[in-house]
Amino acid sequence: MKKETVLSGIRPTGFVHLGNYFGAMRNWVKMQEEFDCYFCVVDWHSLTTHPDTKELRESVLRLLSELLASGLDPEKCVLYIQSHVPEIAELYLYFNMLAYTGELERTATFKDKVRQQPDNVNAGLLTYPVLQAADILVHRATKVPVGKDQEQHIEMTRNYAERFNHRYGNVFPSPTAFSYDSELTRIMSLDGKGKMSKSENHMVTLYLADSDDLIREKIKKAKSDAAPAEPNSVKPDSVENLFGLMRLVSSPDTVENFEQDFNNCVIRYGDMKKQLGEDMVKFISPLREKARAFRADEKYLNQVMSIGAEKARNSAIATMELVRDAMGLKYFALKS
Ligand code: TRP
Repeated sequence: MKKETVLSGIRPTGFVHLGNYFGAMRNWVKMQEEFDCYFCVVDWHSLTTHPDTKELRESVLRLLSELLASGLDPEKCVLYIQSHVPEIAELYLYFNMLAYTGELERTATFKDKVRQQPDNVNAGLLTYPVLQAADILVHRATKVPVGKDQEQHIEMTRNYAERFNHRYGNVFPSPTAFSYDSELTRIMSLDGKGKMSKSENHMVTLYLADSDDLIREKIKKAKSDAAPAEPNSVKPDSVENLFGLMRLVSSPDTVENFEQDFNNCVIRYGDMKKQLGEDMVKFISPLREKARAFRADEKYLNQVMSIGAEKARNSAIATMELVRDAMGLKYFALKS
């Protein structure tokens, strides 16, 4: 039986943090074993918010290195850069004629961006979900591992697929958003305010590139609370958050000990954070060092990018044949 096709994308903006790792990358690594996977560094999408390209090359290569360090294997999945696949841009153009501006203006992510960058409300920002639909449908993917905030975009992708099929003939499947472990995809920032990814304060976000000392310092400064006054109290959010991080990187015994201390009202958050800091260092530092080694090996990165581009283009070219056929964009008479 043919495996289902999975596609996901990640923007090369900023540094990869723990929220990306547990929310996305770790799941991708699992999925590459089971599905026909395409994972894409979406550099075109990043231009909608980061028009300055001075740092783009470095961001793309660093992200690629971090994806490899996390365990994505170019032999098991198709790992590529969006701009290496021009077919995506062609499909984006066709989908733009099937996307209504009213719908695009009502998209939650668009409204957020308008608030964040009122001086650069460019058309690319408005049609961001159209480009995302092209990413997904150019491989006729059916499963899209994404966070909750992306579900509206996947719904829009289904709309464009349906509109295309209705108007021109059946080419596209109806993809669905898909997440492996939904409760693990919410990594809160270290001040307990919002998701780690949303935070603008670098001291409350843990990055895969952080040094050991910086990791320790961030965790030391993380928000805790007063020790509970009564046995078996409900944990305040900031404390639950520390436990959540501990469950991800510490041994079950360690977590259990601190749970008991909490329930017996003898917990010392200083000790807990010290332990968490050490376990976090043990978790992050091998990833950081592997990423650094991949980043230093440009020959290997070039090879990964060109193999990925070729595989992704083969799939995209096949889809675009069907698309142009269905649309009647064929003007040469092949037989006379
Ligand atoms: N919009 C996604 C994000 O901000 C990134 C993305 C671009 C994506 N194209 C995609 C995700 C295709 C899944 C599928 O995180």
